[in-house]
Amino acid sequence: MNEFRHVTVLLRETVSALRPRPGGHYLDGTAGGGGHTGLLLEKIQHTGRIEALDRDPDAIAALKKRFAGEPAVTVTQGNFFQAARLFPHPGFHGILLDLGVSSHQLDTPERGFSFHTSAPLDMRMEQDGPTARDLVNTLDEPSLRRILRDYAQEKYAPQIARAMVAQRSAAPIETTTQLADLIAAAVPAAYRREGHPARKTFMALRYACNGELDGLEEALLSLFNLLQPEGRLAVITFNSLEDAAMKRAARQLTAGCTCPPEFPVCVCGKSPRAHSLKPVFPSPEEIERNPRARSAKLRVLERR
Ligand SMILES: C[S@@+](CC[C@H](N)C(=O)[O-])C[C@H]1O[C@@H](n2cnc3c(N)ncnc32)[C@H](O)[C@@H]1O
Repeated sequence: MNEFRHVTVLLRETVSALRPRPGGHYLDGTAGGGGHTGLLLEKIQHTGRIEALDRDPDAIAALKKRFAGEPAVTVTQGNFFQAARLFPHPGFHGILLDLGVSSHQLDTPERGFSFHTSAPLDMRMEQDGPTARDLVNTLDEPSLRRILRDYAQEKYAPQIARAMVAQRSAAPIETTTQLADLIAAAVPAAYRREGHPARKTFMALRYACNGELDGLEEALLSLFNLLQPEGRLAVITFNSLEDAAMKRAARQLTAGCTCPPEFPVCVCGKSPRAHSLKPVFPSPEEIERNPRARSAKLRVLERR
């Protein structure tokens, strides 16, 4: 594996949102290169416990190297969707998620996430299971169209799905650049001037390949249940679909009584379980330094 490179987004903002305290117990559910974990560890003064979780074996290798000999950090390979099973004795003071892909994943050509360099069309975070190549060469046209529309709101989904099916009837689509060229040829010239026309298709295939969005809201609710009272869940999202899942989870957790307004007293007995903090955005300086931060948004929920 080449050196693990990732510039952490909203580093100080996210760690301070967790109000780290010495002796506390934290979960970094998307630990990546360990940027957030590292600062959190400093803030808890190397006491307490941090569970550093990631589904990607490259991230796990980098985390094990970075935190070797650090008793406060435990590195685990797994999916935060299964956190309740992975951490059966929860009571976390804070949980953080920094959703999406790392720069390491994007910038390592052979991982197949990027349309800039030619590589096998892979895109699997776990490096296991069906690849993006399998999806584009085996799914029927309506399923491909649905993936592009639902996961990326790609307005040329029908044209791109049709082009994929036409291409593969001649020979399988094998590489990132072969797919990117096919997309560029399938969309109108004006669309090509709005940024790379393959951007949305690659994002949609990545989501489909890794199941990142299906069940995200339920996964967030289940993570919230692993918090102690007054514990905080801090989530960085990078687009409207990820953010919508966090907003839906927040709406459920912050909702109180659902009795009709004409009832003189509450009979449902429901009270809000969380308090939602104001969203935080990267500063212009951070975006200048790290353009990948530009679409980031941090939302924080505190357990009551
Ligand atoms: C943006 S990076 C995190 C970077 C990290 N905060 C840092 O400072 O280095 C996102 C990481 O989350 C991991 N990831 C994405 N979805 C995941 C999931 N459902 N469960 C566990 N890890 C996941 C990816 O493999 C990737 O390493």
